[in-house]
Amino acid sequence: MSDQSRRDFIATTAAAATAATAATAALGAASFIAPSNFGAWQSAKAPAPSKTINIGVIGAGGRGSGAANDTLSINPNVRIVAIADIDVAKATAARDALAEEYNKDGATRVAVPNERIFGGIDGYQKVLDLKDVDLVILATAPGFRHVHITAAVAARKHVFAEKPVCVDVAGYRACCAAHDKALAQGTCIVTGTQYRRQPSFIEGIKKIREGMIGDVVAMTARYCSNGIWYRDRKPGMSDMEYQIYNWMHFIWLSGDQITEQAVHNIDVVHWVMGGPPVRAFASGSRWNRPADSEMWDSISCDYEFADGRICSFTGRHWANSDNQGDNVVYGSKGIAYLRAFDSGTQITDRNGKELFSIKGNIGAAYKQEHKELVEAVVASRPIVELRQTAESSLMAVMGREAAYSGQTATWDFMTNKSQLDLMPKLVTIPGDAPAPFVRKPGEYRLQ
Ligand SMILES: NC(=O)c1ccc[n+]([C@@H]2O[C@H](COP(=O)([O-])OP(=O)(O)OC[C@H]3O[C@@H](n4cnc5c(N)ncnc54)[C@H](O)[C@@H]3O)[C@@H](O)[C@H]2O)c1
Repeated sequence: MSDQSRRDFIATTAAAATAATAATAALGAASFIAPSNFGAWQSAKAPAPSKTINIGVIGAGGRGSGAANDTLSINPNVRIVAIADIDVAKATAARDALAEEYNKDGATRVAVPNERIFGGIDGYQKVLDLKDVDLVILATAPGFRHVHITAAVAARKHVFAEKPVCVDVAGYRACCAAHDKALAQGTCIVTGTQYRRQPSFIEGIKKIREGMIGDVVAMTARYCSNGIWYRDRKPGMSDMEYQIYNWMHFIWLSGDQITEQAVHNIDVVHWVMGGPPVRAFASGSRWNRPADSEMWDSISCDYEFADGRICSFTGRHWANSDNQGDNVVYGSKGIAYLRAFDSGTQITDRNGKELFSIKGNIGAAYKQEHKELVEAVVASRPIVELRQTAESSLMAVMGREAAYSGQTATWDFMTNKSQLDLMPKLVTIPGDAPAPFVRKPGEYRLQ
């Protein structure tokens, strides 16, 4: 089927399904076209930003609202002008909450009339079609991220993309192409890996680079917590509506815990080691997930680097167990504890004597990424950091696939040979979704 006839097919299917399903009212109805079908890149230069930077939010749940709040609170020269969420009620609620906070005393920092609130699966494109939108915040379920990034870069918008930026190899490749395109046209892409903008990590890694712990010998990274949310299916939801609503538990949407959450820690491994590893050897388990969840509840992975050094990742969601989210770098002369969230960094010598310490403030880091992004847009000095976060996201995918399959996954295989593309070819609301399944080592293979 040609791209055009496939598009028509999708549109027709979606329209027919729309008429038939009452649940559509909650989530909106539209079709979604897989990334390979997006139009050719446009070649015109990026538009000069207006004096006030107009922002569109795509995905208005917890983080989309949070990121909008972060940028409004740190940047006096931004305003929110459009919001899309597959669930139009969520977009409206986000608009109302932000307006209540930021439109005090006659201010119009949240200027989103009802006609600029878009529901449905194609709502993102309606935001991107608005000429006055300079920058978009992308914070939907991660499985859609590379599609939205690709479309946003094609529309020559500046981008804030939440992590992870991909959950499979097809997404990684789309991100690499979008990175190159943004660089060429001079638009920004900042990503939601906030540790990269947190002084406790920046200064700690600077000390490591300066030699405070001697040669880096090995590293551990952990994301171990007691669990994650699960959203019960609502009456009338189609399979597709339900999976997108309860996105964490479906691998094509979340990438499993190692990708969705632990990409923060794996990104720190990438940062400290200066790039991706050559191979991954992994293991994991699934003891206690709800029946239709595709997630495992633990994955551990040894990442091996070209010079033989090993960085060991452990991730799990286990109740009544110890929480741990730190990165620890072991050197020939000392140890650097790059601790999670707000817990700061401490560096000691091999006898435990403190050599350096600095407090952490993750809330400030969440804002700093938006400050740097908006300053870069205003100064026309683009930051384009998508490839780095795409590599960290693919490291997570590589660890997951090594665990799921029981096979050793190499970076060469993942980047050059793998055809892993998890997104269903047809995503319609309402609509069918792939039947959930749990990957079983020995049966599931690297692909
Ligand atoms: N940087 C961080 O520390 C951090 C923290 C939390 C979440 N996140 C990331 O932010 C993203 C969103 O997480 P969240 O906690 O806000 O989840 P959420 O479920 O609260 O919000 C996601 C929203 O996206 C909407 N959505 C899903 N698919 C969509 C689509 N195709 N088009 C339009 N809307 C769509 C959903 O309806 C929902 O409102 C995830 O990628 C997550 O990993 C990052």
